[in-house]
Parts: sequence; structure tokens; C-alpha cells
Amino acid sequence: MSHVLHNEEQGVLTLTLNRVDKKNSLTAAMYADLADALDKATADAGIKVVVIQGHETVFSAGNDIADFLQQPPANEDAAVFRFLRGITVFPKPLLAVVCGPAVGVGTTMLFHCDLVYAGDNAAFSMPFVNLGLCPEAGSSLLAPELMGYHRAAEALLMGEPFMVDDALEMGLVSRVLPPTEANAYAHQQALKIATKPLTSLMETKRLMKSGKAPKVLARIQEEAMSFGRMLKEPAAIEAFSAFMEKRKPVY
Ligand code: COA
Repeated sequence: MSHVLHNEEQGVLTLTLNRVDKKNSLTAAMYADLADALDKATADAGIKVVVIQGHETVFSAGNDIADFLQQPPANEDAAVFRFLRGITVFPKPLLAVVCGPAVGVGTTMLFHCDLVYAGDNAAFSMPFVNLGLCPEAGSSLLAPELMGYHRAAEALLMGEPFMVDDALEMGLVSRVLPPTEANAYAHQQALKIATKPLTSLMETKRLMKSGKAPKVLARIQEEAMSFGRMLKEPAAIEAFSAFMEKRKPVY
């Protein structure tokens, strides 16, 4: 069974992360599924908007650590990088709905989305330093730009969660809703967007992004080189072993 549900309705493609028992942590197979869906949505003139959502209790716990250890991304064609490139260059409106924890790439993917709706239970975190790693998904560039350097530094150097009020205030989130209503609200917004001409939607997004993609793609690549190297170093090995053994890491 796929852990990403696809639903297409009136120009809106909704991708639902559906692995709640593992907190919607993302496996290579899920990244591949999401990347393929974005490619298809780019090419299909019938799709005007894509929504990525989770469950009302959890958006995503980030990379599936066990899967990641079993099959670490080997090269640029790895599914995770296809997904990250996909969200960076996706030319149509991309919405996300976040309720509950959004850890690691669960938060960093939001920097690439055009609208982000959140449940009032949303908790965002980028705990790369706690895992012996460094930022990914272009977040070392995009977090300071969006949040301001010092707030980004607090989020990335402390690795602690920040809550929805802060996310709203800093512009990471467009609107806060009760978790039970967030997915439905986003769907209504997406349907509204899908009534508008695709040419205008795409041109507006292209102009707003104003040629940023090459810079972001270059940063994703630079981060990936460091991330890949750091994965093999003692701090990350200890962090991941501790997670699998359900204990606190000792550095
Ligand atoms: N990778 C693999 N499995 C994960 C996971 C991840 N990133 N996050 C959670 N899980 C699994 C847990 O191992 C557990 O599995 P089990 O039931 O077989 O023991 C299950 O999901 C439930 O997780 P649990 O930690 O018990 O849920 P919680 O509600 O107490 O906490 C989180 C939720 C998201 C705060 C917590 O799971 C967490 O911090 N996860 C790690 C996130 C992380 O470090 N991600 C970055 C990866 S680069």
C-alpha cells in the first residue's frame, strides 16, 4: 500500500502523507512517489494546484531514520533529491497543511510552498544539530531570508520546536485553523485557486520567485554534500543509533 494518497478533483491534486503510525516519516519510496506526482502535475495542464497534507495529529517526523540508514541517498538521482528539486522548481501553486509535529524536512519543505495552512497544534522544528547533521532542502538559505537571521539561528542552532504563533508572525504560515478543519479549509482555498487561469497563476508565481531557483538548487547541493559527509561521522552515527535504541544520545 502506498503511504502517499493521491486525490485529483477539479484541477486540485491532493497528496496526503498516510503513515501516521510512524508519524508520517518519509521513506525513499514516499519521496519517489511525491517527486513523481510533482513531475506529473507540472506536465498535466488539467492540474492547477497541488496540496501536500498530513493528518490532523501529525504532518511529518521528517526522514524515516531506519529507511535512511538502510538506503542513504547515493547520488543526485536519489528520491529525496528529486523531491527537493521538484518543490524548488514546481511552477504551479503549491499548498501545504501542517498539523502537529513538522520535523526536519517536514518544516524545511514549507519554505518552498506558496501557501501554508496550519492547525493550532502545529510544532515546527529543524533539529539537524541534535542529529549531528546540517540543514537541508535549502533551509540554510531560505530560513534566514524568511525568518530573519537571528530567529533562523535560534531555530537551526538550538534545534528546538517553535509554535504556530511564531510561525504565523514570521510569515512561514498563512493562516491558523483548528486541526480538524485545516485540510478542508486548504482544499476549499485550492479549489478557489483552480478556478483561475493557469497562465496567470504560473506567471505570477514565476515573477514572485524572480529567478531564485538556481541559487536555491545550488544551496541544496552544497548542503547535501555536507549532510552526506556528516552522516558517516560519529555524531550522526550516535544520534541515529540512540534514536533506534530509544535512548538519549551521548556525544
Ligand atoms: N523515522 C523513523 N521512525 C519514526 C520517526 C522517524 N523520523 N519518527 C517517529 N518514528 C516512529 C517511532 O520510532 C515510533 O515507532 P514505534 O511505534 O514502532 O516505536 C512511532 O513512529 C511513533 O513515534 P513516537 O516517537 O513514539 O511518537 P511521539 O508522538 O512521542 O513523538 C515525534 C512524535 C515526531 C515528536 C517524534 O517521533 C520524533 O521526534 N521523531 C524523530 C524526528 C526526527 O528526528 N526527524 C528528523 C530525521 S532527519
